[in-house]
Amino acid sequence: MTRKKLIAANWKMYKTPEQTTAFFAEFLPMVAGHSRDEIVICPPFLDLHAAVEAARGSNVAVGAQNIHWAKEGAFTGEISPAMLTAIQVTHVIIGHSERRQYFNETDDTVNRKLEIALENGLTPIVCVGEVLEEREAGLTEDVLRRQCTRAFNGISARKAAKLAIAYEPVWAIGTGKTATPQMAADAHMVIRHEAEKAFGKEFAQGLRILYGGSVKPDNATALMSEGEIDGALVGGGSLDPASFTRIVKY
Ligand code: PGA
Repeated sequence: MTRKKLIAANWKMYKTPEQTTAFFAEFLPMVAGHSRDEIVICPPFLDLHAAVEAARGSNVAVGAQNIHWAKEGAFTGEISPAMLTAIQVTHVIIGHSERRQYFNETDDTVNRKLEIALENGLTPIVCVGEVLEEREAGLTEDVLRRQCTRAFNGISARKAAKLAIAYEPVWAIGTGKTATPQMAADAHMVIRHEAEKAFGKEFAQGLRILYGGSVKPDNATALMSEGEIDGALVGGGSLDPASFTRIVKY
């Protein structure tokens, strides 16, 4: 089965609305007509409107970096799914390791956020991955299995149709260290197996599993040529339009 790759930019807490508009002005002409892969930019919440306006009518989609699990309510500082879809945001990153590490996100909140994202027709990119101590202790598979099982809990295959997963070994994020294509492929197979248990074989075969962690223009080709890797979630390498273009066009 061929899976269209998803190349997603995670800008984290970088760029103002003005800088967002400037990025798109440079980036869009460079990727115009590129239809081999799906391209998504995930800027900070405050930049989403500028991004959607700039990307209108182009081959680039816009995603958020987080979402709240409730429809609405007394949740100071949070953003609801309907607020995102109201401004034509189509994708959302869920459970990024920085959110798990600094903002107390758990497998349970990831599950709740995944559920509401799917209910609202968003394409969720659920992040999983082990920290260095877990890899060194031989626990990578256990961690991935646990994160996947809990994230998928109570969600049906029909509902999960748009799901994408990003395997991001935490030790590779922002460190310049990447997993080798083989290490990523091994992890992706564990994730695909968990998806098969939760959603069935056919679903698992079609599931896109992205790799993230220090993806740069000079390692993108090797990573994206691995059959198990169905795209990339790119942090630092996505902030410059020329750099991200080279990754998209690996
Ligand atoms: P990085 O970040 O590409 O800067 O390592 C990836 C991510 O955190 O999604």
